[in-house]
Amino acid sequence: MALQPTRDDRFTFGLWTVGWPARDPFGDATRPALDPVETVHRLAELGAYGVTCHDDDLIPFGTAAGERDRLITRFRAALAETGLVVPMMTTNLFTHPVFKDGGFTSNDRAVRRFALRKILRNLDLAAELGATTYVFWGGREGAEVDQAKDIRAALDRYREGIDLLAGHVKEQGYGIRFAIEPKPNEPRGDILLPTVGHALAFIAELEHGDMVGLNPEVGHEQMAGLNVTAGIAQALWAGKLFHIDLNGQRGVKYDQDLVFGHGDLLNAFSLVDLLETGGYRGPRHFDYKPLRTEDIDGVWASAAANMRTYLLLKERAAAFRADPAVAEALHAAGVADLATPTLTPGETVAELLADRSAFEDFDADRTGERGCGFVRLAQLALEHVLGAR
Ligand code: GCO
Ligand code: MN
Ligand code: MN
Repeated sequence: MALQPTRDDRFTFGLWTVGWPARDPFGDATRPALDPVETVHRLAELGAYGVTCHDDDLIPFGTAAGERDRLITRFRAALAETGLVVPMMTTNLFTHPVFKDGGFTSNDRAVRRFALRKILRNLDLAAELGATTYVFWGGREGAEVDQAKDIRAALDRYREGIDLLAGHVKEQGYGIRFAIEPKPNEPRGDILLPTVGHALAFIAELEHGDMVGLNPEVGHEQMAGLNVTAGIAQALWAGKLFHIDLNGQRGVKYDQDLVFGHGDLLNAFSLVDLLETGGYRGPRHFDYKPLRTEDIDGVWASAAANMRTYLLLKERAAAFRADPAVAEALHAAGVADLATPTLTPGETVAELLADRSAFEDFDADRTGERGCGFVRLAQLALEHVLGAR
């Protein structure tokens, strides 16, 4: 199998990922800032399909109109030269001090109106650049102090904002869908819409929920101690997996944004297996941070590592699925049987009550003694990941 990424693999990177100068709360930047035009060229050479960005990654906050146009023009020229596309864009509603208490859900109405204007402006640019997904990551939408935020009012304002923007996108005829990115905490102590499940419940309350889905991030679910593969499966089940942020995380701690696979490798394996077989057709977007210890060569090596790891896991997942021993173990574990409806088509409660084999004659004790054979499956998966089969 070819481990050289091609455009067909649909690998994308945020400008802010490879471009992170590695400033953290304890230390200064360890690398110089990257020019977006250089990033486009380097990513194209590595085999990526596209780049994504926040408004401010491309056009620093407060840039004057003329300079804004110049920055956009040279970025577009780099895209045209390399063939890279921009499938997703998003808004920075977290860096400037004005957003310290949030954008959509700041207690200050003027800040909320400013946030909406900032998004509206960038939505026009996203449409111009051909983006089809617009992400909403609410890093500052939250609180540290329970008494400081009326959560129900905040959700009202969040809904008001998303519905306003979604209505506008529909009116303009932009071919854009919204994707909400959940995260439990960081930078706020607690963030609104902390998990895939919370975000799905929020979307169900929207007027324009039909065009709003999810952009789950591997590490964000894992920061909450959750199984990301299971969360992604529920998003797919709900028809809401619009986009995905791939990276690595090792347990419940700060947001590590490691290279994909450099965290929970077995969970990454099951995730790739699911994405490749579960009907997800969108970009494979890496939202990671090259380690602060790396120089610029290390940055590009880490970008390549994300793609190579994905392709390796894809190859391992295909081998797992093709292995007759796996087919046998899946069969023994009854995995496919779960797809059979529990009632016969048309069966009524009265008929279920009349079925003695379902209750009166059912041997619960004997059935309870039967082993499920799941450990065998776990070991087969592990051996495929390790290349032992
Ligand atoms: C994070 C988030 C962000 C978002 C980005 C796009 O934890 O910092 O993952 O990187 O993905 O702002 O919305
Ligand atoms: Mn993250
Ligand atoms: Mn992300």
